Amino acid sequence: MDSILVTGNGPLSGQIPIAGAKNACLTLMPATLLSDEPLTLTNAPRLSDIRTMTLLLQSLGAEVQALNDGQVLALSSHALTSTRAEYDIVRTMRASIRVLGPLLARHGEAQVSLPGGCAIGARPVDLHLRAMEALGAEMDLRDGYVHAKAPAGGLRGGVVRFPLVSVGATENALMAAVLARGTTVLENAAREPEIVDLAQCLRKMGARIEGEGTSRIEIEGVDRLGGATHRVVTDRIELGTYMLAPAICGGEVECLGGRIDLLQAFCEKLDEAGISVEETAAGLKVARKNGRVRAVNVVTEPFPGFPTDLQAQMMALLCTAEGDSVLEEKIFENRFMHAPELMRMGARIDVHGGTARVRGVEALRGAPVMATDLRASVSLILAGLAAEGETVVSRVYHLDRGYEHVVRKLRGVGAKIERIKGE
Ligand code: UD1
Repeated sequence: MDSILVTGNGPLSGQIPIAGAKNACLTLMPATLLSDEPLTLTNAPRLSDIRTMTLLLQSLGAEVQALNDGQVLALSSHALTSTRAEYDIVRTMRASIRVLGPLLARHGEAQVSLPGGCAIGARPVDLHLRAMEALGAEMDLRDGYVHAKAPAGGLRGGVVRFPLVSVGATENALMAAVLARGTTVLENAAREPEIVDLAQCLRKMGARIEGEGTSRIEIEGVDRLGGATHRVVTDRIELGTYMLAPAICGGEVECLGGRIDLLQAFCEKLDEAGISVEETAAGLKVARKNGRVRAVNVVTEPFPGFPTDLQAQMMALLCTAEGDSVLEEKIFENRFMHAPELMRMGARIDVHGGTARVRGVEALRGAPVMATDLRASVSLILAGLAAEGETVVSRVYHLDRGYEHVVRKLRGVGAKIERIKGE
């Protein structure tokens, strides 16, 4: 297994290009199942999660071609051969549940394996299932699979009231509703930019949707959808991660393609911590010019709040802040597994349930550490960039799921980082 060697060094400077959003792409790709005409996605990120979704769609009989070094995905579902998403693929990536809505909407049935356990908490799929039921589907759980069946004549519009905000369940419900008969209203819908991106793509395919980006989305079902070409929105989590690199190490880095509206709450916290963020013609310029970062308190929330997917990276920054910071994780239980690893590097962190208190220290020291999930692994790299000495982050396959060319991008701004090939 490969690992990453990071040697702490001084200020960073230069530019980092930000890729298309992994999470948007993972929900745009299954949208191909809604139409027999081609869907072309541009600005796709080159990641192992995208390859997993490719395999899943291919297992259903869809054609998926990666062009232009993987940045363009040409998808077509004119001849599906299966409506069954197998355990072998689903267990490796929870986002697989996103094929449920489109399969059910276009083919009237779907069997999707239950995703099973996950390192950052239980993460059930009950909200996805309830949304499909609200559109008239019959759901049955057998042999570890969800067996879903639409009524004769297909799904019908309905009111879906989510008891809590779920990105994935909103996406599944939206994709199911675009081909349902009549009007569907999604209440307490998620408002993430990736949902806005999905709605925009579906509209290009001929869907009738209003209200995306608000908590009430209204969909008027249509008989069929056509093809489209769509550019995947910027990855706000990759953006926030790289914005933290100069915040931690000092210096000035311009993140190309960055937009403040994707990360308003996060940018406000950086400002409070003493980091400057400036909009430029090409993206966002981030700088920490003098002094130590100030401690700040962070509560993770659904969009437009502070994203849970940036909590681990923010913690890495706050480890060397002046004063105590409190991070409250409200989206996922058990999402502080990076804390004990950061403590191996000299951080002082107390975790109690969903709250972590970080007492800022002058400096971190390099150490061998282990990545436990995608965002945790990149937080350890960020910490290593600022630590004294060498840090070796093992289990980097987590990183490959969500960060393309991480070594190349960070080297480009002067970081000392290399990938060490495993046995
Ligand atoms: C998506 C993102 C993930 C991000 C998360 C929260 C993708 C591919 N992944 O995940 O990176 O961390 O949003 O911003 O886009 N829940 C239920 N029942 C359900 C579904 C969810 O109880 O049926 C709970 C979850 O356990 C969690 C909360 O709802 O506590 C939010 O999860 P959700 O927004 O659904 O996350 P994902 O869509 O899985």
